[in-house]
Amino acid sequence: MNPEQWSSVDQYFDGLFAPPDAVLEAALAATTEAGLPSINVSPTQGKLLHVLAKAHNVRKILEIGTLAGYSSIWLGRALPADGKLITLEIDPKHAAVARANIVRAGLDEQVEVIIGKAIESLPRLDSSSAGPFDLVFIDADKVSTPDYLTWAMRLTKPGSLIIIDNVVRKGEVADPKVTDVNVQGVQKALAMLAADQRVIATAIQTVGSKGYDGFSLAYVVGT
Ligand SMILES: C[S@@+](CC[C@H](N)C(=O)[O-])C[C@H]1O[C@@H](n2cnc3c(N)ncnc32)[C@H](O)[C@@H]1O
Repeated sequence: MNPEQWSSVDQYFDGLFAPPDAVLEAALAATTEAGLPSINVSPTQGKLLHVLAKAHNVRKILEIGTLAGYSSIWLGRALPADGKLITLEIDPKHAAVARANIVRAGLDEQVEVIIGKAIESLPRLDSSSAGPFDLVFIDADKVSTPDYLTWAMRLTKPGSLIIIDNVVRKGEVADPKVTDVNVQGVQKALAMLAADQRVIATAIQTVGSKGYDGFSLAYVVGT
């Protein structure tokens, strides 16, 4: 197996499960045109988020890490008409591209982009009536993942789902001597989940057009 095979299988899956979609393609084109990095989830990963959100009948979603709103659109499309997705983004340029993409997707009534450091926006959400959230998707600066997980636990309720992206990091996550603070952040968050009696959690490796990485999924049973 090699990365070329992973990508060609992803293209095959995309053709079946995430076929050409003008809104999503325009969102990716706007990402590139604005010079933003291509660090969004892949189409099939976006579809996975959509399926999980649908299966879970989510009404309120919190996303930490917007970029250009690609995953926000996949998640937002799973919401009912009166549902809400709040997505947190530190970079105003990213947020501006995301807002335009979200308007183009017809989701601007349901999706709100909040600009600022997530670690500062999260306490404000906690003291507002925004939560509790049915689903939290953590996909921002990896070093802060343990802090985001702590906030996700505060902002969810039994029955909620917490999804963390990029938990494999090309396999480095299994290296106990790793010095990269981003990988260490992921290791700490996974250890927190494993030890937390308030969740039922797992992690899964993925390969494909985004290389070798993975997700962690946690079902909240207590708070
Ligand atoms: C991996 S990208 C998000 C990709 C997006 N979820 C998708 O799949 O389409 C991570 C985003 O988190 C943002 N970010 C990084 N540090 C942050 C912070 N401290 N607070 C909020 N957002 C942050 C980055 O600017 C970037 O846009």
